[in-house]
Amino acid sequence: MSERIAKADLKSKVMTAAEAAEFVNNGDKVGVSGFTGSGYPKALPTAIAEKAKAAHARGEEFAIDVFSGASTAPDCDGVLAEADAIRYRMPYQSDPTMRNKINAGEMKYQDIHLSQSGLYVEQGFFGKVNVAIVEAIRIDENGNIVPSSSVGNSVEYINAADKVIVEINNWQSLDLEGMHDIWSVPALPNRVAVPINKPGDRIGVGYIEVDPAKIVAIVETDEADRNAPFKEPDEVSKQIAANFLQFLEDEVAAGRLSYDGYIMQSGVGNVPNAVMAGLLDSKFENIQAYTEVIQDGMVDLIDAGKMTVASATAFSLSPEYAEKMNDEAKRYREHIILRPQQISNHPEVIRRVGLIATNGMIEADIYGNINSTHVNGTRVMNGIGGSGDFTRNAFVSSFISGSEAKGGAISTIVPFASHIDHTEHDAMVIITERGYADLRGLAPRDRVAKMIEIAHPNYQPALQEYFERAQSVQPHLSTPHDLKTAFDFHVRMLENGSMMP
Ligand code: COA
Repeated sequence: MSERIAKADLKSKVMTAAEAAEFVNNGDKVGVSGFTGSGYPKALPTAIAEKAKAAHARGEEFAIDVFSGASTAPDCDGVLAEADAIRYRMPYQSDPTMRNKINAGEMKYQDIHLSQSGLYVEQGFFGKVNVAIVEAIRIDENGNIVPSSSVGNSVEYINAADKVIVEINNWQSLDLEGMHDIWSVPALPNRVAVPINKPGDRIGVGYIEVDPAKIVAIVETDEADRNAPFKEPDEVSKQIAANFLQFLEDEVAAGRLSYDGYIMQSGVGNVPNAVMAGLLDSKFENIQAYTEVIQDGMVDLIDAGKMTVASATAFSLSPEYAEKMNDEAKRYREHIILRPQQISNHPEVIRRVGLIATNGMIEADIYGNINSTHVNGTRVMNGIGGSGDFTRNAFVSSFISGSEAKGGAISTIVPFASHIDHTEHDAMVIITERGYADLRGLAPRDRVAKMIEIAHPNYQPALQEYFERAQSVQPHLSTPHDLKTAFDFHVRMLENGSMMP
């Protein structure tokens, strides 16, 4: 491994994860690398969890605040949550153990727009960051850190922290070097425009600068990223993908989009991946991505010569595609750029490049408000992630979901969203397997018929009934609601286990 540390005097900092964990103390604020299961530290979290368990067994307190890029993995968020080692977590998670702890009130979670999380650290909103733990492919001769399969908020955490612990992961290909583009927005009052006009513009360097004196430990690992396999698209996903492609075709017909140069942002998941599979056989060429994560579908589009460039902050690949990325990173780095998430999700750049944003949702209401995060308004699922960064600033903002969840017990189109992450002012097009509701240019009452049309037929009568009642019970007819029954779908779900009337 020592070949991966080009600065000779840093070799003395190599130690075990347990030894490195001694630099992390109870109450510390710890910034970790990692985004959607890639590039997160693989060894330190378990070592810190062990330290926490030992402290708890002695009757001592041990809990830290953990800041990341986005979700990590069972061997990071999972082990720390399981050991009750986290007091506060931001800005995003998707780990089942952690989710249960949060929903049980056993740890605090703040769900923050991903583009803003690193900025808030820089602005001092969280106080002092004690330790940064970042995965790297190597440390160069000047002590700079070359990140691995994600960049996330590593720059901000390294800059803010007193101590830096580097995990050098030998599983990660050295050929990833050259894929990263590290650039930081200068602090206020010297902030400047981000000089990216096109998704493929490179503006920075391939490494993260660090004061080598801050590096207190280097730990060697050899573990793969989390990388979950994608499910084969089912009939519903395929139909949603077909409807999304129809929407793109209709945009071309309306003169708002061209077959050449469609710029996508795509949320993670099986449905977005099915959409990309559909694009393979479409007329769209020179597709570009200005997005958060590189998914299998984008790799296929690059291989097919359909996608010219993809800008993101991380990979979110299946194990098979992650191996392929490692083997062929030299080729893929001609097409892929990994940036800090403050830049990959920057509202200014998103507005400038003019992309079509496509994200998953938990539910939408009849007026087009979107709930991305809370089941029944109270049980947090994952978090808002980058969906707010993109939705608010995209050329077109779309959301995709099946019209039902949990075998039909849940309608994803409801009278009133039980939690609202994206308001009806931001969401433009909602797509289910039933079709797409284009809400652009429509006043709230004119949206309802379109939203009911994309709901599942089992729920259409109850939605129609609600809308009629809402108009009859009160005098305010801009956005009619009957507040006494607005959450009946959700109440029925809680009481009967189904939203069905
Ligand atoms: N009520 C209850 N559960 C619901 C639901 C609803 N209205 N809608 C979906 N679900 C459940 C599904 O049943 C599934 O549960 P399971 O894991 O137990 O099978 C789970 O949510 C995931 O749903 P799925 O239909 O597979 O879609 P998805 O993988 O696209 O996830 C979100 C949907 C909303 C959870 C996901 O898109 C998300 O977390 N979004 C917020 C972050 C984001 O948008 N990031 C984008 C930038 S990368």
